Amino acid sequence: MKLEKSLEIVERDRRVISQASRIAYYPLVVDRASGSKLWDVDGNEYIDFLSGAAVNNVGHCHPRVVEAIREQAGRLIHNTLGYTYYEVAVELAERLVKLTPGGFRKRVSFSLSGSDANDGAIKLARASTGRSKVVSFLGSYHGTTYGALTLSAITPRMRRRLGPLLPEIYHVPYPDCYRCYFALTYPECGLHCLEHIELMLDMVLPPDEVAAFILEPIQGDAGIVIPPDEFWPRLKRLCEEHGILFIDEEVQTGFARTGRMFAIEHWGVDPDALIVAKPIAAGLPMAAIIARAELMERWVAPAHLFTTEANPVACAAALAVLDIIEGENLPERAERLGEKALRRLREMMESYELIGDVRGRGLLIGVDLVRSRETREPARAEAMKVCWRAWERGLVMISFGRFGNVLRIAPPLTITEEELMEGLDIVEASIRDVSEGRVPDSVLEKMVAW
Ligand SMILES: Cc1ncc(COP(=O)(O)O)c(C=O)c1O
Repeated sequence: MKLEKSLEIVERDRRVISQASRIAYYPLVVDRASGSKLWDVDGNEYIDFLSGAAVNNVGHCHPRVVEAIREQAGRLIHNTLGYTYYEVAVELAERLVKLTPGGFRKRVSFSLSGSDANDGAIKLARASTGRSKVVSFLGSYHGTTYGALTLSAITPRMRRRLGPLLPEIYHVPYPDCYRCYFALTYPECGLHCLEHIELMLDMVLPPDEVAAFILEPIQGDAGIVIPPDEFWPRLKRLCEEHGILFIDEEVQTGFARTGRMFAIEHWGVDPDALIVAKPIAAGLPMAAIIARAELMERWVAPAHLFTTEANPVACAAALAVLDIIEGENLPERAERLGEKALRRLREMMESYELIGDVRGRGLLIGVDLVRSRETREPARAEAMKVCWRAWERGLVMISFGRFGNVLRIAPPLTITEEELMEGLDIVEASIRDVSEGRVPDSVLEKMVAW
């Protein structure tokens, strides 16, 4: 594998760019991308199972997105929504209002990243309810601005030496049925994790002081954790009883990724507010909170304003993304291809003891690697080695999860079936190599993993 130019650029990067933002698995220096393929600066070709961290749902450089960006860039690049108006932002807000669950009146607040949209959701919840407490879940990842960081609870590395964090944010265990926080088994547990939340509201969190629950409908970075069918409907009822907002954080799961436009639709719940980011503008900086209008009408300017929010070029890209998702029926496509991938991965379980569990909805899939199926001891180093070997074989994939042992399979939703199966062949060959001890420990020294 030729890597001369890649290694030279990595070396320069490490001298001048802060490494606090990078979890570097292998020296992949991307030169260009198209659809579900990437090429590095040395000309090596890869299938993409990462999608730029679940961003490229419509594939890299989709011609309709490229055209929309070009056209808008020649017309208006920036003029700030803070002091003026422009139609492309209004049109996008109108589409988002229609697209999101809930037939009630809504308004949209734009921002720049998943992180600051989460901060905005905390502000909106507090401002609109007059309550200060916000509840989040263990295992969640919401971003790295102060509010989002305080909501997140996946690794202490995120928060070490950064305190004090935001006050009045509380964490409760997520319904993780493979690695239950209470070591119980579903359904015999009777949904103990929900009972635990009820107990918290009875004993330490006066419900009339709780503004909101902020939740990932499927936890992404925790390793694709999917709650049981009745969990979200029951939590929503609990919220309604106490006037607490149900805020659905769809930064990773939104826009067709899980086989529905938004993952919460799998549970049939209408959230009071929904947070989107990542894929909305095909990688241009954009995020939004879409919430009940009466909540948005209770906070006042400049409570949440960014100079470059709803940038016209990003808005044009987002409108093209929505056209592609609808025109190419990507929710249906993600569901169909996802089922094929899940079937293939579950077949692999018969041959490789290393695979403890395969979980997913649509094309958001996690392959949980374990040292023993009985103890479910996470196989973190093995997962890293699988990713390294997969990269050497021409597949971009990373590992993540509460214990860093879950392979993350999230290709563009436009991937062809052939590319998907070719990528899964590489996953299998790499798992075989690691299971048979053919990937040396020395590769671990080169990796900084989740
Ligand atoms: C569920 C979720 N929320 C929020 C974020 C943060 O988004 P951003 O990195 O755009 O700030 C991420 C990023 O990985 C995410 O997966």
